[in-house]
Amino acid sequence: MNFLHKINKKIQKSAEMISEIIEIDVEIMDSELNRIAGTGVLKTKIGINMADESHIYKKILFDGKSRVIFNPRENDECSDCSQLKFCNEKFEVSVPIIVKKKIVGVIGLICFTENQKIHFIKNQESFITFLKQFSVYISNKVLDYLEEVNNENLVNFYSIQHKTENFLFISPPMKVIYNRILKISKTLSNVLLTGETGTGKEIIAKAIHLNSDYSNNSFVSINCGAIPENLFESELFGYIKGAFTGANPNGRIGKIQQAHNGTLFLDEIADMPLNMQVKLLRVLQEKKITPIGSNFEIDINVRIIAATNKNLEKMVFEGKFREDLFYRLNVVPLEIPPLRIRKDDIEILSQYFIKKYCDLFKKKSGISKDALEILSKYNWPGNVRELENAIEFALNVVGEDEIIRIENLPEKITKFNHSVSSLDLSKKNFVYLEEYYNLSTKEKKEIAKKFGISLATFYRMIQKEKHIK
Ligand SMILES: Nc1ncnc2c1ncn2[C@@H]1O[C@H](COP(=O)(O)OP(=O)(O)OP(=O)(O)O)[C@@H](O)[C@H]1O
Ligand SMILES: [Mg+2]
Repeated sequence: MNFLHKINKKIQKSAEMISEIIEIDVEIMDSELNRIAGTGVLKTKIGINMADESHIYKKILFDGKSRVIFNPRENDECSDCSQLKFCNEKFEVSVPIIVKKKIVGVIGLICFTENQKIHFIKNQESFITFLKQFSVYISNKVLDYLEEVNNENLVNFYSIQHKTENFLFISPPMKVIYNRILKISKTLSNVLLTGETGTGKEIIAKAIHLNSDYSNNSFVSINCGAIPENLFESELFGYIKGAFTGANPNGRIGKIQQAHNGTLFLDEIADMPLNMQVKLLRVLQEKKITPIGSNFEIDINVRIIAATNKNLEKMVFEGKFREDLFYRLNVVPLEIPPLRIRKDDIEILSQYFIKKYCDLFKKKSGISKDALEILSKYNWPGNVRELENAIEFALNVVGEDEIIRIENLPEKITKFNHSVSSLDLSKKNFVYLEEYYNLSTKEKKEIAKKFGISLATFYRMIQKEKHIK
């Protein structure tokens, strides 16, 4: 959730003060591009979503970099703006508002006349410094607010509000994944989610569905590893009245039909028996199903999201998974990084799970700095699920109203040999490195540091990975 609107009055006052001093209009937008405050002509649309007219702000919200645009119509950054023809700005400076590494909004200073522009350019350096200070001021006010109202707010602060309240992240690799989720959501192509156990594949499948245009329709989930082979067909395709003995006398609608115009999530797809793989392939090709015992075909329109923690390509090579089905499912591959290479997420996920289990156990608790440090040094083979279990365990052993300390954590974690580098630099972990290609140099540096390698080596690895693919 974005908390700028909670302090909008303070922000508006300061914006007016600043605008008076520098004699140029100022506006403040939140991360969804709602105008939180504005002066002069920009005052009119306070509270309104300006996403369609905020081309440069969108870029800032993505990469967190300030921008100075001298001639908006001629600037390269504006070339792909849909509003270019109508733009009447003469000059624009924008800086991000960052709270605890998260970009929560943008401050924009806009000149609409040549005089204002000349005035700004004359005082450029001091005005930009001034704006940056204003950004820090707002960020501090948000922090004050968050602290005032406790850690529950902190969790909300990091939650992704796009209808998936419980999907949390802050690390650069997950930001890349999230941006892909948003793009993927807008298409109907099949997606193959891969990643180690517990990395959040199911939560991501739901996020894709909930961000899509068909989010009001069904999200139907099937765990292919949990269905006995002889029930697979009736589960997927359904059957009509009296189709076979022992069946429900009224017949039954299959999962594929339930997911019509929505998403069918095929979890543990590697466990789907080969004969069912053939049948699923036919559905994907013909977009029709025939329930067992029926003579009629039913048209089906579903997006399939499949997930696995196994190496499907290897299974194809070994003849355990059909190649044709693999290609049909793998239209958009998305590999979810393991927790050990996105340790920035550990603190916020821990706080989230503490809140979740405190609510459940009717306890009040927090976590000590030392305990958090131990959590961030562990290598998390079971990923987010293992972290959740560790927090649940700890909250079972802490006393009423006590915070989680090192001794409350599972032994496996406290006894982990922290001196051994917890990063697994095997080939497997590099598969999604290509995803990092589009990140800023600062973010690349950050990731390289986490891998314990130089930026140059990191670049080489990304390049190499590109050739392998
Ligand atoms: N980013 C996240 N924010 C909040 N909770 C998360 C996140 N990622 C994972 N979780 C939680 O961790 C647990 C494991 O996630 P999930 O079941 O989606 O993993 P998975 O990749 O499907 O694992 P598996 O391969 O074992 O099926 C779930 O309880 C999920 O809610
Ligand atoms: Mg799963």
